[in-house]
Amino acid sequence: MWIHKKRASDIPESEVTDHKTYLNRRQFLNSSAAIVTASMLQSSIVDAAETPKPTFDKLLKSDFSTEDKLTSYESVTTYNNFYEFGTDKASPAILATKFPDKSKPWRVTIEGECDKPGEYDYDDLIRPFTLEERIYRFRCVEGWSMVIPWVGFPLADLIKRAQPNSRAKYVQFTTLYDPEQMPGQSRKVLDWPYVEGLRIDEAMNPLTLLSVGLYGNELLGQNGAPIRLVVPWKYGFKSIKSIVNIRFVEEMPNSAWMKAGPREYGFYSNVNPDVAHPRWSQSRERRIGEFLKRKTEMFNGYQEEVAGLYTGMDLKKNF
Ligand code: MTE
Repeated sequence: MWIHKKRASDIPESEVTDHKTYLNRRQFLNSSAAIVTASMLQSSIVDAAETPKPTFDKLLKSDFSTEDKLTSYESVTTYNNFYEFGTDKASPAILATKFPDKSKPWRVTIEGECDKPGEYDYDDLIRPFTLEERIYRFRCVEGWSMVIPWVGFPLADLIKRAQPNSRAKYVQFTTLYDPEQMPGQSRKVLDWPYVEGLRIDEAMNPLTLLSVGLYGNELLGQNGAPIRLVVPWKYGFKSIKSIVNIRFVEEMPNSAWMKAGPREYGFYSNVNPDVAHPRWSQSRERRIGEFLKRKTEMFNGYQEEVAGLYTGMDLKKNF
């Protein structure tokens, strides 16, 4: 395994502090009076004027949505992790404005242990599925969280179409590898391309979404256009962006983050306030747009839907 002097897995604590400063500054700028009350500090900063008019129509409203207050469109689209466009939070929004190159077709290959493999153009891939809007809590391993209105369809719908066979125990996802479009890939901060995986029952869980948009619009480059995964009960890095390959496999996939820091990033990566990251606690989180930290919930608040997937498993060992 390639080891960098300052590994990619070394960033989080400093990023959390960075965001605190960013928030403090925004809170300051947003308060007209010098006296800022606690309730004002708690409320999120949502600027409707910054949210573009929705381009998707006829979206199914999903029962899986949370009622939590949305994170502003501005924060969702400017505070990003997408190492293919740089390791800081601001770079993806600046460097991914022309991503993906619309003159090149976006193709997704579905292969491995299944009866109906195939290679699809993006439009053909998504055409058979009903798009819905689902508001999910999204918790990053770095200690911040957001509430995002995703547009997408259940991954289970696509899996059913591919008809995995009995050897398909896991699903592996791969991001595009194209250093010309993704300048961050010319630096060896991760073992490119970015790879993630789910156990097949996790992949089939109705909460697991293939997302093609947010806030009623197509995904922007920085959020993983044109198609990405969203797994709301796991830390954000499992939600792999800009997917070109979905492969049914027998063995547990070795993800990009497991390779970068095997002691720090496990395969499951379920949000769990009781299992600390080796270098920081995971018991609290800062919701972007709020001043005070809040307690992190087990499985990010989705216990009812997913706890059964892990019955009898030691979640400290299987972190
Ligand atoms: N997918 C790829 N291909 N590359 C990445 O660097 N970052 C992950 C995940 N998916 C990442 C990725 C991390 S660490 C997080 S927290 C989320 O994307 C961030 O998603 P967002 O920027 O849309 O909020």
